[in-house]
Amino acid sequence: MIRLGVNIDHVATIRQARGADEPDPVWAAVEAELGGADTITFHLREDRRHVSDRDAEILRRTVAGRLNMEMSADADIVSIALRLKPHQCTLVPERRQELTTEGGLNVVDGAARLRGVVRKLRGANIEVSAFVEPDANQIRAAAKCGFHAVELWTGGYAHASPGPQADRALRTLGDAIEVAFESGLIVHAGHGLTYRNVDAVAALAGFTEFNIGHSIVSRSVFVGLREAVREMKRLLDRASQHHVALVDSEDLLGRNG
Ligand code: PXP
Repeated sequence: MIRLGVNIDHVATIRQARGADEPDPVWAAVEAELGGADTITFHLREDRRHVSDRDAEILRRTVAGRLNMEMSADADIVSIALRLKPHQCTLVPERRQELTTEGGLNVVDGAARLRGVVRKLRGANIEVSAFVEPDANQIRAAAKCGFHAVELWTGGYAHASPGPQADRALRTLGDAIEVAFESGLIVHAGHGLTYRNVDAVAALAGFTEFNIGHSIVSRSVFVGLREAVREMKRLLDRASQHHVALVDSEDLLGRNG
């Protein structure tokens, strides 16, 4: 089974557009879980542009499944994570000017600092993931820093033109999964995944968790969040059944070979 992590930041963004108290991302988390979300993902940004400290506190107390906190390696944010103790922290790069997280963390250059942050979070029994581009050096550096997992940035695939460019991006993701496995890492995926493009990525065996935000929240405007999550979950479940079929056929080949 591939876990679906639903990123609820965009619900908070709508609230902040009016400085009002609705829509509440805490309600969104409840609806997402009722729709089948395995993980609720939120990004507590240094500038608090969408999710607030209040949201993070209540999510920690009310989310029934897994809670994944996306965060920078900033000392104040790390101390909040150590107090909240979500199941998982995903370390991401953060720039004030960006519309959303635009690429992976530079683990190679930031290794010295990241190692200390990972040690603290692991010490609090938090699973730690690094959001990285599908690049062998970044993945190996994440393993050396002590991360449990990498979340591979799927933006390269999502932004590619259909055809050879998208195929190349998929092969890059497949190669990155292999490097991550060789390095002993769990592999997640996220960024830019939609109802239309998720199939091909989910068909690559090896991903444990997909974190998807914008596309699900966009669809929820029309069908409601519970139904939007249900539809995405169905696509992922269908893809993971395909993985079982692949493994079976390899077994068969092995026995018959
Ligand atoms: N994973 C990470 C680490 C992210 O920063 C984001 C964007 O907040 C997502 C997944 C979700 O991306 P999208 O909103 O494009 O589905």
